Amino acid sequence: MSALFTPYTLRSLTLPNRIVIAPMCEFSAVEGCATDWHIIHLGHLALSGAGLLIIEATAVEPHGRISSECLGLYSDDNERALGRVLQVVRRYSDMPIGIQLSHAGRKASTERSSAAGRAALSDERAWPTVGPSALRFSAARPVPFELDCEGMARIIEGFVQATQRAARLGLDMIEIHSAHGYLLSSFLSPIANHRVDAYGGSLENRMRFPLEVFDAVRNAWPAERPLGVRCNGTDWMPQGITPDDAVAYARALRDRGCDYVDVSSGGNAIAQIPLAPGYQVPFASKVRAEAAIPTMAVGLIRDPRHAESIVAEGHADMVALGRGMLNDPRWPWHAAEELGATVKVPYQYGRAATRQGIPAHDAIPAVASRSAA
Ligand SMILES: Cc1cc2nc3c(=O)[nH]c(=O)nc-3n(C[C@H](O)[C@H](O)[C@H](O)COP(=O)(O)O)c2cc1C
Repeated sequence: MSALFTPYTLRSLTLPNRIVIAPMCEFSAVEGCATDWHIIHLGHLALSGAGLLIIEATAVEPHGRISSECLGLYSDDNERALGRVLQVVRRYSDMPIGIQLSHAGRKASTERSSAAGRAALSDERAWPTVGPSALRFSAARPVPFELDCEGMARIIEGFVQATQRAARLGLDMIEIHSAHGYLLSSFLSPIANHRVDAYGGSLENRMRFPLEVFDAVRNAWPAERPLGVRCNGTDWMPQGITPDDAVAYARALRDRGCDYVDVSSGGNAIAQIPLAPGYQVPFASKVRAEAAIPTMAVGLIRDPRHAESIVAEGHADMVALGRGMLNDPRWPWHAAEELGATVKVPYQYGRAATRQGIPAHDAIPAVASRSAA
């Protein structure tokens, strides 16, 4: 019996297995609207047999996008465009689908990601960025405006409205992006947050704004649907977020009704990261043990037996894969084969699955019965 392929329940949502497709920015939206690329990208991943698909970081206001090609959920047009994508995807897959809601903060207003990393937009295309303090991320980035209470209230309202749109779209889950140096992560990190008011200084103060966002989203999101948070287990710098901070944050989130914490790292400053298979798993494990909250582990998990051991040994409840899924979109099929488990396979692909030894059981109906937007 594989631990990785054991179903997992979060509120009213049961994932058929513990494999999660990590949120991945596609830089393929127009004015925040999903495009045909999203039909192809999310559509093919939805045939992978994973237990959950999380849609990329999706901005709650236009200035909260990382680049002008990032996805948004701040307008009726955005909602309609994503609804069109979901309608197609759901016609052929009943995989649970979540969305990551985000604000890029001081890391907004950049060029699309490339192998060389991201550069600030040229002056004529740039938009003003905001952060906890007027401290730039790097010399190549603009100095953000320090958010005042009015600005924080506007962003919370953006999260609430995006949550209501996600609810109308029938999305199964929301993950709040509070990692990688984006707005909520930057409030948590002493590297980016030098405030002297109630939102800076002590950890309790630095958590205040992210927790206010969490409370507002939880309130606006149907009680039966799960809400998780992606956070940093470390900033990989002594003066940044520490694993103990992550535990304290996870405890506060747990007490407010957070269903899981997806533990990632880095992004508040340019740091040396000791990349290795499962390099972030110890943080998920610590948070799970010390904050008593379900965790999702992510980061260089590619070997099915490694993924299996992370769940079986109690380091995390779910395992998310990003690049591994892009490289091998049938990764869950192959993992099932190796671990002697089964996954859902579309009937159109049933013969391929059988040939590979995966029982093509439980074919997905051509028209999924769930309600679409
Ligand atoms: C193309 C790409 C886009 C990404 N976009 C996001 C994102 O939108 N939100 C996020 O939290 N992480 C994002 N990440 C990070 C992944 O979710 C994941 O945490 C990271 O890639 C480590 O997992 P992996 O080694 O399995 O790829 C992205 C990663 C990649 C490769």
